[in-house]
Parts: sequence; structure tokens; C-alpha cells
Amino acid sequence: MRILIIGSGGREHALAWRLAQSSRVETVFVAPGNGGTARDAALRNVALTDPVELADFARREKIDLTVVGPEAPLAAGVVDRFREHGLRIFGPTQAAAQLESSKDYAKRFLVRHDIPTARHQTFTEPAAAHAYVDEQGAPIVIKADGLAAGKGVVVADTTAEAHAAIDAMLGDGSLGAAGARVVIEECLVGEEVSFIVMCDGQHVLPLATSQDHKRLLNGDQGPNTGGMGAYSPAPLVTPQLHNRIMREVILPTVQGMKNDGVPYSGFLYAGLMISPATADKPAGIKVLEFNCRMGDPETQPILMRLKGDFLRVMEHAVNGTLDQAEIDWDRRSALGVVMAAANYPATPRAGDVIDGLPADHPDCMVFHAGTVLDADGKVRTAGGRVLCVTALGDSVKLAQQRAYQAVDQIRFAGAQVRRDIGWRAIKPTGSHP
Ligand code: AMP
Ligand code: GLY
Repeated sequence: MRILIIGSGGREHALAWRLAQSSRVETVFVAPGNGGTARDAALRNVALTDPVELADFARREKIDLTVVGPEAPLAAGVVDRFREHGLRIFGPTQAAAQLESSKDYAKRFLVRHDIPTARHQTFTEPAAAHAYVDEQGAPIVIKADGLAAGKGVVVADTTAEAHAAIDAMLGDGSLGAAGARVVIEECLVGEEVSFIVMCDGQHVLPLATSQDHKRLLNGDQGPNTGGMGAYSPAPLVTPQLHNRIMREVILPTVQGMKNDGVPYSGFLYAGLMISPATADKPAGIKVLEFNCRMGDPETQPILMRLKGDFLRVMEHAVNGTLDQAEIDWDRRSALGVVMAAANYPATPRAGDVIDGLPADHPDCMVFHAGTVLDADGKVRTAGGRVLCVTALGDSVKLAQQRAYQAVDQIRFAGAQVRRDIGWRAIKPTGSHP
């Protein structure tokens, strides 16, 4: 079989690497791919990003199955373009991808279907938004409605910060059309988990649980990023909580989309805030956001743990038979540490030579993201998050040690690495080392 993966990040490198291991796979193309997918003899990069050109490529090259990594092509309708030509592709249609591409759509959906989420209101007029902030007080969360590459959410500790965020989004149009509408919502407290499932429009297959670290600096401090590291499983998600998340969030979401006439197929990622149980109340579960794709870097540790034939699972997903699919998970933990470029997240520097990359090993993989392979064979930085060094171990602690051993061999100028990925899972009392 001939497979096409759309995207260029660490998530796509991991998807391509895992699918290439299936004995029935002949070639895996990655569009556009990165330095890591270029170096792997089992993968082939294709310099395409436009949905129409990708569909033409898939027809011409007789691609049997396409998997979409990031949200942008989904929001641009790549699944609709492929389906018009009868091509098999795994991902939501443009209409279903609104669960991620419009926060207002997602919030209205959650409220309509009685799925727990933060209290909110949506605004297009700055004056009304400012008045709402004055009435609600701080802390409060301001979100641009549209896709803003991780820059669209401001968790404001003071009303002054909230007013400034409203001015930036609604006033001076700093986020363009994405910020022409804002969602203002109650600030939730607790611990975040990434709950990712596969859907075929009707059935749901949950993937292993995971948790990521969104802040740039040790101790979960500093600016928000796409994610500086992740691990799987997330010990916070006990079997009991898992059942509740399925029953209270995931199944009503998939059923709700079906009832609304927008059946959801593809990966579905619910970002959840879990508030601790108290003597008289069970743990609280609230939806922070939906993503219509897998998480990055959550995918890297999740796929390290996936055993068996991932292609077979994908085939069930596109054939509408996910109820017959099963995934066997490695009982070990996996942990991925992101190495980011100098000046990430504001203005990441490109062009730094990367040395010391270890050889691939089934228990320790370096997934590439913002890298390019030069004509002279050198790998250079070419984006914000550069690498995700991911290792398996008998405990989170051992996976962490193994990942950092590999991280410490890799060198590039200005590399930014957190040293504490996984700390919440290693110290369940929640104290930072
Ligand atoms: P989102 O893109 O909606 O996931 O938001 C990005 C990050 O902002 C989340 O991962 C949370 O860390 C934070 N966040 C979003 N909404 C809230 C909220 N209602 N309360 C507290 N933190 C939030
Ligand atoms: N790691 C968070 C995300 O993929 O959205």
C-alpha cells in the first residue's frame, strides 16, 4: 500500500515512522515533511501543501490512504477535496473541523449538547467585551475565535491584561480574521490532560492517555508554546476517570456531531481541565478546547507505545469499522522532550547546524519537526520546535532518564530544553523539584 502523510512536524514524522513499519506498506510519502523524514530511507518527502495539488498527487501516485497531521489543511477542506475524487483520507471534513477552527462553534456545540465546559460569551464589539470583563473580573480567559497557531489564547490574571488582549484582537486586528470575534470565558483551575480518540463518524477508539507541558520554562513557567514535552500514559487518568471522560465528553460529542448532520471522522483531541475530587464532590471534568487532530508532541510518546499493525487500525477508521479495531499498548511509559530553537516561541532562529543525532532505536527515537536536510548532508534548524527526543522506560522516571541521555548528546546553537518533563507524573503530590 501507498500512504501519504500531510504535514511537517514531529507528529507527522512519528505517524510516518509507525505506518512504515506495517508489512503491507510499500511507500510512505510525507508532504512536505522535514529533515528527519528526508533522512529516513523508508519515507519520501513531497514538496506540496496545497489541498488541490495534494489530491492531484494522490490520484496520480495511486495513494491508497492519506492521513492528515495538522489542523490548517483540515480547516482548508483537504478532506473534502480528496473525497470529491473518491480518495481515502482520514480526517474531519471542513465543516466538522470547525470544532477546532472556530472556538465559538465549539462552545455553542458544547452548550447545545450539555457537555461540561467553562462559562462563556462571544463578542464582536470591543465595548461589550470590555464591559463583560469589568463585570466578571479576573482571572479570565480571552480567546480569538479562529486558528491562531497557538497565539490566540490569553489567560489574563488581571482585568488590565484582559482589556489589552481584547484591544489587540478586536481593536487593532493583530490576529486578522481569526481575532474578529472573541470568546471570553471563566478561568478554570486544575490539571490539563490530552484525551485523544479516533472516530469514524460513529464509533470511537480511544488512544493511550497523555499529558503535555505547554509552558516554555521549567516548573511550567514562562510563555505558552505548542508543547515542550509530553508523556504517556497520564497517571491522572485512572480507569474510572477514563470511563467518565468517555461517557460525559467523548461519546456525547461524537453523537452530537452525528445528530447535527456533521458526522465526525478523524482524530479528535479533547483538551480537558481536571479539578481534584473533594470529600463531597468527584473530580471535575471540563472541556477547554477541541482539536481535530492528534497533539504534538503527545503523538510521539503515544505512538512509541503503540504495538501491532497501525495500518489495520487506520483501515478500520476509514472504512467505518472502528468498533472492530483494537490497539495493544506497550505497558511501559514513553516520554518526549522537545528541543526548541533559539528565540522560540517569539522569533525562532533558523539555520543552526544540529550535531550528535543518535541512530534510531525502537526504544529511543528522535522525531524531527523544524529541521531541513541540506545538500551537504547536514541537518539544520528550520522552525520553532526542532526535535522531540522520545524514549520508552519501565517507569516515567526511567523513560525520562533515557530521553535526557539522548538529549544530552545532541547539540545545536541556542537550543532550548526543559529539564523537568514529566515531573507531575513522577511526583504525584504535584510538587516541583
Ligand atoms: P486552547 O487553545 O483553548 O487549548 O488554550 C490554550 C491553553 O490555554 C490551554 O491549554 C490552557 O492551558 C489555557 N486555557 C484555555 N482555556 C482556559 C480556561 N478556561 N481556563 C484556564 N486555562 C485555560
Ligand atoms: N500539544 C498541544 C497541541 O497539540 O495542541
